[in-house]
Amino acid sequence: MNQAAETLTDYPDLEGAEMLRVRNLNAFYGESHILHGVDFDVKRGELVTLLGRNGAGRSTTLKAIMNMVGRRTGSIVINGNETLGMKPHRIPRLGIGYCPEERGIFASLDVEENLLLPPTVRSGGMSIDDIYAMFPHLYERRRSQGTRLSGGEQQMLAMARILRTGARLLLLDEITEGLAPVIVQALGEVLVKLKARGMTIVLVEQNFRFAAPLADRHFVMEHGRIIEEIGAAELASRRDHLNTLLGV
Ligand SMILES: Nc1ncnc2c1ncn2[C@@H]1O[C@H](COP(=O)(O)OP(=O)(O)OP(=O)(O)O)[C@@H](O)[C@H]1O
Ligand SMILES: [Mg+2]
Repeated sequence: MNQAAETLTDYPDLEGAEMLRVRNLNAFYGESHILHGVDFDVKRGELVTLLGRNGAGRSTTLKAIMNMVGRRTGSIVINGNETLGMKPHRIPRLGIGYCPEERGIFASLDVEENLLLPPTVRSGGMSIDDIYAMFPHLYERRRSQGTRLSGGEQQMLAMARILRTGARLLLLDEITEGLAPVIVQALGEVLVKLKARGMTIVLVEQNFRFAAPLADRHFVMEHGRIIEEIGAAELASRRDHLNTLLGV
């Protein structure tokens, strides 16, 4: 890659500036055409959800943003940088962190070792002390091996690792799935704190009761497209419509 392509622009840290812009995104796994022209954008400091029925393409959208699908066409601009031609390993350096459905904890390492592993992709990553202040539970479990952690602890660790890197845009896939209500509530409190720190968050979530109070806007996906955008203020009046779209 030439030098010009290595040079990254960085927009000023203004709330309301565009952090992510996805246009006419198509994604393929081999011959399977999964995303059919996904369009949405996320402003800096916003928390948006991707909602939809099973198989709608929400996880694929996050993977496509990270260049972890077979092939993509269209445009994905992250913090002012077009990333469609970018190699997967370069994308986190734009300050984007991805928490996949499978959490990817190193089972043979303890909590603190897991936290010490992530490379710093940008300045401003959280220190170990910052992490323990945000996730007191991880402090208590800092010497426990990955294999010994509960699902909720693993989820917290997976998120904490991303925060270590300095990422300012977080893509979170079903972080509450299968977790006890008390853990779900703790994760909600963490998201509120991250938002207060100015993080931009894209949340794929099945648990709408969890997501609704946190989100600024909701994007509904169906058959690999965004079919509806609903702002937080419209939610109450459009709740029945949304339930119909989601089939709940
Ligand atoms: N690796 C893959 N190869 C081929 N097809 C895939 C692959 N991963 C997902 N798909 C297909 O792509 C479609 C969208 O899947 P995706 O995982 O994005 O759905 P989703 O909206 O996250 O829903 P859920 O998580 O509830 O399954 C589905 O039809 C799925 O079968
Ligand atoms: Mg999914």
